[in-house]
Amino acid sequence: MDFIRDYADWFYLIGAVLFILTLRGLSGPKTAIAGNRYGMIAMAIAVLTTFFVAENPVVWMIVGAMVLGAIIGIARARTVPMTQMPETVALMHSLVGLAAVLIAVAAIIHNNDLAKLDVGLLQANGVNFHEMSKVHLFELFVGCFVGAITFTASVFAYGKLAAKKWAKTISGTWVKPVQALIFIAMFAAGIHFFLTGNMTSFWAMTGLALVFGWVWIAPVGGGDMPVVVSLLNSFSGWAAAGIGFTLENNMLIVAGSLVGSSGAILSYIMCKAMNRSIINVLFGGAMGGTAVVVDAGDKAPRNHRSGSADDAGFLMSNADSVVIVPGYGMAQGRAQNAVKELANLLKEQGVTVRFAIHPVAGRMPGHMNVLLAEADVPYEDILEMDEINSDFPATDVVLVIGANDVVNPAAKDDPSSPIYGMPILEAHKARTIMVIKRSMATGYAGLDNDLFYNDKTMMIFGDAKKVVEDMTKAINGNGH
Ligand code: TAP
Repeated sequence: MDFIRDYADWFYLIGAVLFILTLRGLSGPKTAIAGNRYGMIAMAIAVLTTFFVAENPVVWMIVGAMVLGAIIGIARARTVPMTQMPETVALMHSLVGLAAVLIAVAAIIHNNDLAKLDVGLLQANGVNFHEMSKVHLFELFVGCFVGAITFTASVFAYGKLAAKKWAKTISGTWVKPVQALIFIAMFAAGIHFFLTGNMTSFWAMTGLALVFGWVWIAPVGGGDMPVVVSLLNSFSGWAAAGIGFTLENNMLIVAGSLVGSSGAILSYIMCKAMNRSIINVLFGGAMGGTAVVVDAGDKAPRNHRSGSADDAGFLMSNADSVVIVPGYGMAQGRAQNAVKELANLLKEQGVTVRFAIHPVAGRMPGHMNVLLAEADVPYEDILEMDEINSDFPATDVVLVIGANDVVNPAAKDDPSSPIYGMPILEAHKARTIMVIKRSMATGYAGLDNDLFYNDKTMMIFGDAKKVVEDMTKAINGNGH
């Protein structure tokens, strides 16, 4: 055991390198499994090393907490459906925030003891005690308020994504001034605590930070929640890094910084895909499904063309190239395996089949990639938006399966549309467009979609899985 204690920093260094390899691995589908393994090994090294370097650990408590956490984690991982992943992730972040607050509170409660130790140690080295104490207070101040904001904001994000009644979007002219007031009060209490070490200010800061987390995120619309979740992921990392300084744990500092920076980068990428700025998402008020609803009553009824799965199957089997655009409806209908069967059958008939993935298709980053990987669709058939967009004009058939907003041409040609400027998959440029969905209902952003009324479009109504299976049957039946 002494060996682990003596070489703790080396073990932490190995853990940190493995965490970096984890992120690298997770950046591509082919290396993602290896990336996950690195992450698990790194976490095991980090936890075990910390266990052995801890002074006087209360073993039963640590082991008990780990066993309880493992039971809950394994049960949740086994039962959570893919469609509930975003809210599960939000809930996890709330726990990181709560942990940061609890560690800060525990450290503060023991602060007097720590301070006494510091006095002896530092006086011996000729260092001013108050300076050192301030460093501690600053780390606790930052870790605690970032953690508290992360906690309540993540709980709200969870509620919103899980469509809980209590997670109500708030709006009105009062929201921003109230947010500003709470923030200023929180900051003032924090500064007072930092300067004086006053406990009342500490509790006030923590309480106000908890309230701020909620009122800060509550005005954000459902459509922007994934960006918020990713940003909170980043926050939870910074909170952990702050606490790492307090606990003087290098591993926590490194791991927290990695989570903090990767979450920030992901938020940036998502904002870019939605053509929004992070400031606009966080302070621009509600946008998305909950707030933007087109009043169809104002518009004259429009015509669309619908066809059967048989017609569609026949057309596709006679095409040279088919591009499949999956969206949230494919996930909702659990159609990915049926889609893979259809793609394989078309390929056997000599049709070139590829998949086009929009960065925010579905309800979480990488949602479509995960589903297609689960169905064993070859990675080389899956193309990102930038790779495929220029191919649409030369594509015979584009098959849109339960996607809506990510193929809405209003994002390109209607400056009055709330999604104007958002990059889309340019399915409207293909020679023939087929759309599988259950009705003419809007998607997440609550917007009508011109693509469905395009002369080249055939709507095939029904549940994604059933329609795709019927298409496969029709092609088989045709004997092509
Ligand atoms: P959406 O625009 O939400 O459209 C999905 C469509 O699928 C709906 O119009 C729905 O129409 C159809 N559908 C639902 N269940 C179906 C089923 N069982 N079978 C067939 N069709 C079904 O999806 P999208 O195009 O993937 O766009 C994603 C949207 O979500 C964007 O607005 C994005 O900003 C937002 N968002 C993204 C994320 C991330 S990070 N990916 C997270 C949260 C929100 P019917 O009801 O008529 O069937």
